[in-house]
Amino acid sequence: MIRFEGIHKSYDEKQALAGVDIELPTGKISVIIGPSGCGKSTFLKLINRMIDPDDGQILIDGSPVLSRSPHQLRLGIGYVIQEIGLFPHFTVEENILIVPRLLKWPDRKKAERLGELMKLIGLSDGYRGKYPHELSGGEAQRVGVARALAADPEILLMDEPFGAVDPLNRSVLQDEFAAIQSKVQKTVVFVTHDIDEAVRLADHLVIMRDGKVVQAGAPEEILQKPAGRFVRDFIGADRAIKRLSLFSLRDIMQPVYPARVGEPVPPEARDKAYVWVVSREGYLNGWAELEGRKPAEELGAEEVTRVTAAELAVFETSSLRTALSRMMGQGIRNLPVLNREWQLVGQVNLRDIEQLAGSEGDLPRAEGVSAQ
Ligand SMILES: Nc1ncnc2c1ncn2[C@@H]1O[C@H](COP(=O)(O)OP(=O)(O)OP(=O)(O)O)[C@@H](O)[C@H]1O
Ligand SMILES: [Mg+2]
Repeated sequence: MIRFEGIHKSYDEKQALAGVDIELPTGKISVIIGPSGCGKSTFLKLINRMIDPDDGQILIDGSPVLSRSPHQLRLGIGYVIQEIGLFPHFTVEENILIVPRLLKWPDRKKAERLGELMKLIGLSDGYRGKYPHELSGGEAQRVGVARALAADPEILLMDEPFGAVDPLNRSVLQDEFAAIQSKVQKTVVFVTHDIDEAVRLADHLVIMRDGKVVQAGAPEEILQKPAGRFVRDFIGADRAIKRLSLFSLRDIMQPVYPARVGEPVPPEARDKAYVWVVSREGYLNGWAELEGRKPAEELGAEEVTRVTAAELAVFETSSLRTALSRMMGQGIRNLPVLNREWQLVGQVNLRDIEQLAGSEGDLPRAEGVSAQ
């Protein structure tokens, strides 16, 4: 647990933090959110001693950060930021292995760790020798996350890590990060000023204003009971839509009975207007119309309308909000849902999402954002 006790910090005359007391739970994502200049980056920098407080103390698992040297402290704390991303003259591999190299890990251990991390962030080995300017913004951010995780730190500090990425890639990165976090379970302190990103990722949400914490708690609680006008305005009017970020497709997707070329359409799918078509290995190939077909007839390759899975499908770990924007973007009401291996595992319908947006019941949380 990271604990702030009576923290004050000023730069010259400007008071950046004006008495912050807060606890951030171990193994969870705490998201710090608030308007520009409210003290979010200052909050983060105090944790790894890039700056020290004027008053108060910060404890990590009961021990004051001031009792450790900044160098020692930072070896156990990963840090991801928006601008100063990767070292431009280092390859992806060299960037990721900076801390393991500082720690003088043997080559074999470094190679193993690199392999694990590349897999975790979903980049093929072909990327190892690339330089940052050869990467897209989203790929660069993934490498930044891998670099921060390289030496397996307990704590991960992230200052608007996806801020420079376009909205579509940003939601993909958020979903991926949620999936990664569900595996690695770090104590994450994540700064953003995007409320949707905050609701999507936070286990624990901390809302700041003018150097003070105005409300902290589970995002559901804050969406349901905003403490006062500032928080209500900050969250915005479309609270029902925001709630969709709390659920993953795995929670509501329907089963699919896909067809394969050269085989009859499965009986469970025959009363529908169309059927999803997959390859032998279960990868999505496209869909076929079923109207006017004889039930037992084998599906011909010419009947299949091909689709690009990456454009149409959503992952089971994606949030309902991602699915909704994909539906609106593509103008379709039914989306195929894939697992991480890109195999078709379900489908989701606009009606199911609408129902959930309207309900206020206790529903399961999205993956990687598990409720306590
Ligand atoms: N090195 C500095 N010298 C002087 N003032 C500073 C310094 N760093 C931050 N400040 C001031 O302290 C306040 C808090 O800054 P901080 O960077 O923590 O805000 P923030 O919430 O991260 O803002 P943003 O969302 O724009 O990144 C701001 O008013 C800022 O101008
Ligand atoms: Mg900042």
